[in-house]
Amino acid sequence: MNDQTSRRAVVRDPSGSESIEIINVPIPQPGAGQVRIEVAAAAINPVDLGVASGRFHQLGVVHQPVHTGLGWDFAGTVEAVGDGVTLTVGTLIAKFVDGFDRDYGSHADHVVVDAAHVAPLPDGMFLNVAAGVPLAVTTAGQLVKLIGAAPAAGRRLLVTGAAGAVGAHFAILAKEHGWEVTGLARAGDEEFVRGLGVEFVDETTQGWDVVVDAAAMQAEALRLVRDGGRFVGVQPALRLPEERGITVDVVVSHPDVTLLSSLLERVAAGHLPARIHATLPLTEIVSAYQLLAKGNVRGRIVVVP
Ligand SMILES: NC(=O)c1ccc[n+]([C@@H]2O[C@H](COP(=O)([O-])OP(=O)(O)OC[C@H]3O[C@@H](n4cnc5c(N)ncnc54)[C@H](OP(=O)(O)O)[C@@H]3O)[C@@H](O)[C@H]2O)c1
Repeated sequence: MNDQTSRRAVVRDPSGSESIEIINVPIPQPGAGQVRIEVAAAAINPVDLGVASGRFHQLGVVHQPVHTGLGWDFAGTVEAVGDGVTLTVGTLIAKFVDGFDRDYGSHADHVVVDAAHVAPLPDGMFLNVAAGVPLAVTTAGQLVKLIGAAPAAGRRLLVTGAAGAVGAHFAILAKEHGWEVTGLARAGDEEFVRGLGVEFVDETTQGWDVVVDAAAMQAEALRLVRDGGRFVGVQPALRLPEERGITVDVVVSHPDVTLLSSLLERVAAGHLPARIHATLPLTEIVSAYQLLAKGNVRGRIVVVP
């Protein structure tokens, strides 16, 4: 980067982590209602691997003519504001960039976003911690809104991937809404999952009233729901057909600044977990993606411009 340009991680012909490149673009300027954020830290989410692999191009949800921007989650500092914005320069914020089909993303020096959707950080919250939270915590909150409060009967809920970011947040929030929550995770994650205050299993069993599939196990997880129960998936592009009287839903997370602000407060207070697996510089973006793709990651991999 020099004074006039900004680095941005993109894929032109997506075919995996090795196809990621960093390009220089003019520093983006905020329009009316927008802010420019100087990115301090940006997490890599599973969806980013999917974009870099070309999976979402193949599914027909990305149509970028030249290159596709990478990165959803980020935290940083308001650096410039457009007309009509009341946020002040210097405010620390977190957000996720929404949507697949865009030539920019948060794995960059700067990002321009709608001011209405950025959440100021709670006092004392570290930017690198906040950088890994917005998408997962918003998705977990919207999953809870989707299933609602537990009914008097039929409250046995299994969340797959309970040691992951979405699953862990969701497990805690669902329990608060009256569900009897059991988390499915790897054997080595037992202590972490029990620490969330929910039951733990490392093998699948059938007969659950509700399965929330935060591990994206899809058909394998649908099989665990009792007849007439409920399944909620996390893969909107691969929605499962209904069977055995099971109601099938899928979460599609969308920016909700009120929800994000309230859940960031809960992360800052230590009520919701925010784990960081590794922090790498933006110049090592390919290695950072490869690290996530390799697996056995516990917590977010964060890139720092
Ligand atoms: N629809 C939406 O709007 C939306 C929004 C956000 C996320 N998502 C999706 O939600 C999913 C979870 O996201 P995330 O950020 O929470 O990912 P994450 O942090 O990587 O968590 C996924 C967890 O699932 C575990 N897992 C996978 N297969 C498992 C199995 N068979 N048994 C037990 N545990 C298993 C993983 O463990 P291992 O690492 O050991 O495999 C990991 O702990 C992803 O597919 C993501 O794309 C969807």
